[in-house]
Amino acid sequence: MRFPSLLVAFLAPLTVISKPLFKRWDDLEVKHAWVERPRGWTLHSAAPANHKFNLRIALKQDKFDDLLTHLYEVSDPLHERRYGAHLSKEEVDALVRPHPSSVETVDDWLKYHGIETASIQRSDAGDWLTLPVTVEQAERLLGTTYNVYHNNATSEYVVRTDGYSLPRVLHPHISVVTPTTYFGGLRRMKSMSFLQPQIEPIENSVAQNQAKGSLATVPASCSSKITPACLRALYNTSGYTPQAADTNKLGVAGYLGEFANRADLQTFFSTFRTDAVGGAYTTVLVNGGQDNQTKPGVEANLDIQYTEGISFPTPNIYYSTGGSPPFLTDSNTPTNTNEPYLDWLNFVLSQSTIPQTFTTSYGDDEQTVPFDYAITVCNLFAQVGARGSSILFASGDDGVGGGNCLTNDGKNTKHFQPNFPASCPFVTTVGGTTKVNPEVAVSFSGGGFSNYFARPGYQSGAVQAFLKTLGSTFAGQFNTSGRAYPDVAAQGSGFQVVVGGRTTSVGGTSASTPTFAGVVALLNDFRISSGKAPLGFLNPLLYSSAIAGLNDITSGSNPGCGTVGFTAGVGWDPVTGLGTPDFGKLQAIVKTIS
Ligand SMILES: *[C@@H]1O[C@H](CO)[C@@H](O)[C@H](O)[C@H]1NC(C)=O
Ligand SMILES: *[C@@H]1O[C@H](CO)[C@@H](O)[C@H](O)[C@H]1NC(C)=O
Ligand SMILES: *[C@@H]1O[C@H](CO)[C@@H](O)[C@H](O)[C@H]1NC(C)=O
Ligand SMILES: *[C@@H]1O[C@H](CO)[C@@H](O)[C@H](O)[C@H]1NC(C)=O
Repeated sequence: MRFPSLLVAFLAPLTVISKPLFKRWDDLEVKHAWVERPRGWTLHSAAPANHKFNLRIALKQDKFDDLLTHLYEVSDPLHERRYGAHLSKEEVDALVRPHPSSVETVDDWLKYHGIETASIQRSDAGDWLTLPVTVEQAERLLGTTYNVYHNNATSEYVVRTDGYSLPRVLHPHISVVTPTTYFGGLRRMKSMSFLQPQIEPIENSVAQNQAKGSLATVPASCSSKITPACLRALYNTSGYTPQAADTNKLGVAGYLGEFANRADLQTFFSTFRTDAVGGAYTTVLVNGGQDNQTKPGVEANLDIQYTEGISFPTPNIYYSTGGSPPFLTDSNTPTNTNEPYLDWLNFVLSQSTIPQTFTTSYGDDEQTVPFDYAITVCNLFAQVGARGSSILFASGDDGVGGGNCLTNDGKNTKHFQPNFPASCPFVTTVGGTTKVNPEVAVSFSGGGFSNYFARPGYQSGAVQAFLKTLGSTFAGQFNTSGRAYPDVAAQGSGFQVVVGGRTTSVGGTSASTPTFAGVVALLNDFRISSGKAPLGFLNPLLYSSAIAGLNDITSGSNPGCGTVGFTAGVGWDPVTGLGTPDFGKLQAIVKTIS
């Protein structure tokens, strides 16, 4: 075994010396290539050589390991010195700045290909480069062919590639280049809510009685129809009056074509939360996002009505993230990047002050997201956490997996299908429940184990206890060493949402997520008004002292992939996580932490 490695060591310098210097840019090595193209996408045609788009290059962040050390220290309630000592934007930027040699090497490569350094836009930390390119230029840079792909189910056309390469010497300097092999555009992201026409909307008189009631007990109608009154009673927030509305904020991430409607919010308040009538939210437009008030979105209204319904009068911000228009095959000058998380995250990270709580309800099957892309995006969430914000993500609406659950690694084996970003260890993932007395798991609640991210230390005890009880059930169908989710849960069915002036029933873990976020925003209000830091990245707290402040959900299951799915039980489970919040108890817990 020693001989071959000696041989390599001996030959390698010779090879380098014998090559003219520029040859290093021709020595390409595959960065990412699909074994099997994400399902649903077919090759339509070659991409026009003169089609222009923005190429984004993520440089390796030089001190990312240090950033993670900071993240875990400032989020660990047992760390007496550093809990809550969140980093500023400048401190985070310093840790994610690429090494000067990375910047120099990548600039040389781009210059070799005729790209002027001046045309490159750089993020404040210099870790993201954005450059306008033509298909022809991108193909030369990445040793690939760009094509137009069509998705029959959604009628979308995108410009992507089946694989791309980088010069061997650049691999240690670049984490990902996009758009390349991630096909999931805006519309591809499953919007995790659905209308529930089978659940009759609540009558106004009933709703108004609830809205006026003392909220000491959970109304019986909450078993099938959820209103703010139900959630405030169930999660024990109704006795709390926010005190830090001048500082504390809650952010809702929305993407292309989903607009929250201001008139609908007022109708919602006058029906379901009369003390909040007149309350408003702010809309922030990101990357060409719009705010079309004649086109109310179910998802956007659900989010804002329930974050406001629980956290009022905490200021809420709705981020309407645009993106370039979809690629039209018959247009000559389209631009199409459609990388919504990147646009939104890069925007948020460029701000010096950001909301202390974020909720977002979009996702994709993890296997349709290229590994290098998923790692890079997940690391951006770690940056948001280090800055002191809690990020909540929906766990998905397909139980352990939707459809036939076959892998796309060329082997076509049946395997539970985790969701991304739910599977990222730096976000808090929210599953769904239904009914009251007792609250049980809702059958669509997404849950499972990542194939990309290893199980983080904060959840090892909780998840190992579950795996021990599970035994060999479903062996081989999920990855026992992966990051497991959801972390927590909240009601997810029968939400009464006003859309276009009419009340309608909506369900999904995208209802659970703003609900949990509303409770977190109130906890942050309490911390801030007591002169303490906000909670920031929640998971280390949730899996330790905060367990006592969560209602364990012990029945129900999440079928999928032709199986009965996992079963909720005592302690953590991949259906409802650690359980649903009890604000009063959580408040007492976070009060004791420095
Ligand atoms: C494409 O979708 C249409 C309707 O949505 C369907 O009728 C047709 O069979 C589909 N074609 C393929 C190749 O899947
Ligand atoms: C707003 O939405 C309506 C309804 O879909 C549409 O007719 C109108 O063109 C949109 N306005 C803008 C500015 O996009
Ligand atoms: C299981 O998860 C681990 C940890 O993230 C990973 O290294 C491994 O590749 C995964 N296995 C499969 C079959 O995906
Ligand atoms: C609600 O919070 C209060 C403290 O505010 C606590 O005493 C009580 O146990 C909590 N739970 C319920 C179900 O009331």
